[in-house]
Amino acid sequence: MFKILNKKNITKNVYIIKIQAPRVSRAILPGQFVIVRVDDKGERTPFPVCEFDGEQGTVSIVFKAIGNTANDLINLNVGDNIKDFVGPIGHASHLVDKIKELKNVLFVADDLGFARIYTEIYWLNKNNISSDAIISFDTNDELEFKDKISVVCRNLTEAKSDTADICEKLAEKLNSNTKYDMVVAVGSTEMMRQVTKITKEKNVDTIVSLTTLILDGTGMCGACRLTIGNEVKFVCQDGPEFDANLVDYDEVERRQKFYSSYEEKEKFRLENGKENEAATGLEVE
Ligand code: FES
Repeated sequence: MFKILNKKNITKNVYIIKIQAPRVSRAILPGQFVIVRVDDKGERTPFPVCEFDGEQGTVSIVFKAIGNTANDLINLNVGDNIKDFVGPIGHASHLVDKIKELKNVLFVADDLGFARIYTEIYWLNKNNISSDAIISFDTNDELEFKDKISVVCRNLTEAKSDTADICEKLAEKLNSNTKYDMVVAVGSTEMMRQVTKITKEKNVDTIVSLTTLILDGTGMCGACRLTIGNEVKFVCQDGPEFDANLVDYDEVERRQKFYSSYEEKEKFRLENGKENEAATGLEVE
């Protein structure tokens, strides 16, 4: 069992939960994620990690109040236990592999990306590598995270919550005197698609962190399958980070639509049961 040490509702529908998970906290690297099952009847659900501390034995996950597991987690209190907390899942960030080649890294984040990039900026800072970041924060409620990032990031540029503003600020950075060895984009698919176009023109190595439907997290079920370059890859095992120039963003969007349809099916099944399936035309497993 894994105890909840802290629970914060940092903005209207975004939560951060800190969990006592010593083994995961010591093994995990930036870019990896965890799979949570709240209780015996719960679903296995992947969550991004926004902080971990091997000495304290803690791991914090960030999520929106969408889906059954997220809502089950929100209903738990500090001191309650989670049945399964499995990880680390996935491949560590490309930053870990390329650490020796890096001096300056530029992060670009929207949506929940502001929390997801924190582990990477923190880790780079610990390894004496400078990071700048362009982040669109949705609300001032995320101020605490803004402060945390500012401590470990050399220069934090805030952008409006629209891709055009993010891209404008990215172009300014890439035209500045700072030479970036790598750009890391985390957040909405549209933002990552546009960032990739700009960095490709400027010939800057870029990695993106992808979110698709993840079920078993073992590379066996195929739910998270994507074509990266000409190869079939699994986000849960080979990702979630990939070379931005090899990503087929149309395919990523198609897989994400499948995800929302899955969520709708699950919601429908719980609320209505199988007998109402025919009335809606939804196929309920
Ligand atoms: S989640 Fe099943 S193969 Fe990745």
